[in-house]
Amino acid sequence: MLKTKYLGLDLRSPIVVGASEMTANVEKIKRLEDHGAAAIVTKSLFEEEILLKNNKWREELAQYDYIDAEMGQLFPNADIDAAKEHLYWINKTKEAVSIPVIASLNCVNREAWLEYAKELEEAGADAIEANMYSYSFGVTKNPAEIEDKRVNILKEIKKTVNIPVSVKISPHYTSIFTFVNLLDQAGIDGVILFHRLFNPDIDIEKEVELARFQLTDSSRNGSSLRWIGLLSGKVGMDLVANTGVETGQDLIKMLLAGATGVQVVSTIYRNGMEQIGVMEKELTDWMERKEYASLEDFRGKLSKVNINNPWAYERTQYIKMLLKGEYEV
Ligand SMILES: Cc1cc2nc3c(=O)[nH]c(=O)nc-3n(C[C@H](O)[C@H](O)[C@H](O)COP(=O)(O)O)c2cc1C
Repeated sequence: MLKTKYLGLDLRSPIVVGASEMTANVEKIKRLEDHGAAAIVTKSLFEEEILLKNNKWREELAQYDYIDAEMGQLFPNADIDAAKEHLYWINKTKEAVSIPVIASLNCVNREAWLEYAKELEEAGADAIEANMYSYSFGVTKNPAEIEDKRVNILKEIKKTVNIPVSVKISPHYTSIFTFVNLLDQAGIDGVILFHRLFNPDIDIEKEVELARFQLTDSSRNGSSLRWIGLLSGKVGMDLVANTGVETGQDLIKMLLAGATGVQVVSTIYRNGMEQIGVMEKELTDWMERKEYASLEDFRGKLSKVNINNPWAYERTQYIKMLLKGEYEV
């Protein structure tokens, strides 16, 4: 009843557990599978983290330069590569579970994107999720160039691997519509809307900058819902809702707007892995009540292309406010 295709992969339901610390550990991933996760996205392989770890190891090894010969015997692979650890772990995860394992990757340099994407495929990943998490601070950079660069890297990844390629993007683009269309034309299999950037905070008493660990809730999923609703039927690629998908109701809304599936993270941290089953049950109960036999019976039913409201997903609330004089002080 809940079966779906996701990046061309067969999933038992549309509920995927997104990249997080929960998906950085084989035992936890096994438990997520037992609780009904249809697929998982592994914690990202971060190029910058790999570089830092490798440098740290080299520094530590350099302390023993004077016993270089013995060190060589002790550690024949003294040129340790932290990426190998990650790839080994992906491989072990694949052996341990039968659900698809989607490997998340976040790089800075073009060569690293391509090399690691290939290695993740070789380690057994069923698909790649490019985690395009970065701000561009260079004032001299032309935004179109930045976007072209990202699309070109994705095109190259697509040529380098034989598994599906998806991308998780932030909501901060001048035109989400244009960018997602470019991704679609580039043959990217799916887009995850949206990455949740960790927001900065400030402690005004201590006068220090804070980096808080913030979980989301349903009140945060409006942007994802808007863009899934606007893009559904306009692009061929899969649209995946992420950020603030907390309940079965949120999941149903995203599917009605046209989502292929959802990724959940915060709700699992907050409510436990049982939440996957709770959301699934809410969805099946609702489908039975509405007499839907499959997701295809209602997916996208309320996307912008399928509803007769020119303001849907755009300015409906605003127009209503203007017409009704709501929210007057
Ligand atoms: C503890 C934690 C670790 C995360 N690690 C990653 C990561 O490695 N790669 C990534 O792309 N996103 C990562 N994320 C972001 C989530 O995958 C997700 O995009 C975000 O939390 C929004 O979904 P949510 O509203 O369901 O939490 C992390 C989130 C949390 C809370």
